[in-house]
Amino acid sequence: MPSVLIKTYGCQMNERDTEQVLSMFLAGGYDITQNEDEADVILINTCSVREKAELKALGKMGLLCARPNAKPWVVYGFMGCMSQSRSNSLFRDIARLDIVTGTHQYHNVYKLCNRLLRNRLAQHITEPIKRGARICAVEHEDGFQNAIKDHLPPSGNCTAFVSIMQGCDMRCSYCIVPSTRGEECSRPMNDILTEAKELVARGVKEITLLGQIVNRYGRDEPIINGRGAFVRLLEALHEIDGLERIRFTSPHPIGFRQDLVNAYTYLPKLCSHIHFPMQSGSDRILKLMLRPYKNEKYLNLCEAMREARPDLAITTDIIVGFPGETHEDYLQTKAAVERIQFDNAFIFQYSPRKDTPAAAMADQICLRVKEERNHDLLECVNRIATARNQALVGTTQTILVEGPSKNNPNRLQGRTSQNKPVIIEGNSAAVGSIVPVTITECTGFTLYANVQQ
Ligand code: SAH
Ligand code: SF4
Ligand code: F3S
Repeated sequence: MPSVLIKTYGCQMNERDTEQVLSMFLAGGYDITQNEDEADVILINTCSVREKAELKALGKMGLLCARPNAKPWVVYGFMGCMSQSRSNSLFRDIARLDIVTGTHQYHNVYKLCNRLLRNRLAQHITEPIKRGARICAVEHEDGFQNAIKDHLPPSGNCTAFVSIMQGCDMRCSYCIVPSTRGEECSRPMNDILTEAKELVARGVKEITLLGQIVNRYGRDEPIINGRGAFVRLLEALHEIDGLERIRFTSPHPIGFRQDLVNAYTYLPKLCSHIHFPMQSGSDRILKLMLRPYKNEKYLNLCEAMREARPDLAITTDIIVGFPGETHEDYLQTKAAVERIQFDNAFIFQYSPRKDTPAAAMADQICLRVKEERNHDLLECVNRIATARNQALVGTTQTILVEGPSKNNPNRLQGRTSQNKPVIIEGNSAAVGSIVPVTITECTGFTLYANVQQ
């Protein structure tokens, strides 16, 4: 049986898309492998959001294609965001590359790879190939967003991602995503509910809804009894017996209405965590970023949600060193971090992206300043994160046990409703169950706990 390996970079959406592609390979009779020397098809699902992500994927593919003892017929392909943005030109970067497929073509990846592999095997290729097949599929296809619906067969996973929309209609001046993922497009609510019910029937307890601006889901639909389509979707999911936890990522202050704040008061399955990108604490920079709201609106939303759900954990994304960011602007970001007391934050140094307005702005910030701000803010974020975790020591939390701990396979790992990883002693029988624990210790990121008897 042939086998396939997919390496995934980037966001949860890419993880979800990889799963869709793998499920199609499985249905076609392939094995899934993690072993590079074993695989007959090797794909990398790529991210373009920062330059580093692209360099990582290019470097990895270069190494894979240069393996001296690789099977000569192996099919090499890039899929995802970098494929969409760089398309054909990738064949110039890596001569041995066979296939490049874009973000609206995931459902065709299996067909293209399988056909090429079967041809090569039928030709009994024994010498390494010098130049790839150069198949490029990056066109838009109507209805592609409904093609992302298959999950991998049950493997004990009690959590799952569900893509509820694709693309993004905002034009944040730094961001490449609108050009790699195309126009915003929501899936029909019934399809999402059917998918969720199937997952629950297979043992899934926690679902994370995915969208670039997830709260804009179904924004053309009417508001009914004060509730927009996104909140109505949350309510409908909440009704599913056996589904214990609902998460979503990422929300945006635009279209974030009171109905979503209120949802935290009456939907107990909605977890006490929100990843809510702030980007900057300076109104001047937000304006240059083309983020159409003031920082005060963002802060007020955080505070309103904390009022609705007092134990809500808030995490965020922040960009430092955006073109024109002064020390004063940076200090405003830092002040916002102090005010909200984030449970954690991803800090990114601004990375100029192809064909985005910010890349052409004067007043680019030098690397040294970006690094200084990154380092300084990280210290502040880590201090607050550790203090917030320390405040949980001694408390009771409920965790969903997900599987063995990555660092110590003799222990188990789960997550609290606040999305904090928790390590416990125990055996695999507990996987998939929701158990009360007492937190005993913590670091800035991880909690340690005893299971309550
Ligand atoms: N749709 C999400 C963000 C998706 S991209 C939202 O709008 O909230 C994930 C994160 O990458 C962003 O929140 C941003 O902080 C970061 N990012 C995007 N483009 C970037 C760039 N050019 N340089 C550095 N960080 C960037
Ligand atoms: Fe990028 Fe902005 Fe769209 Fe998020 S909302 S994906 S940051 S353009
Ligand atoms: Fe990266 Fe594409 Fe996600 S650019 S962050 S993989 S949408």
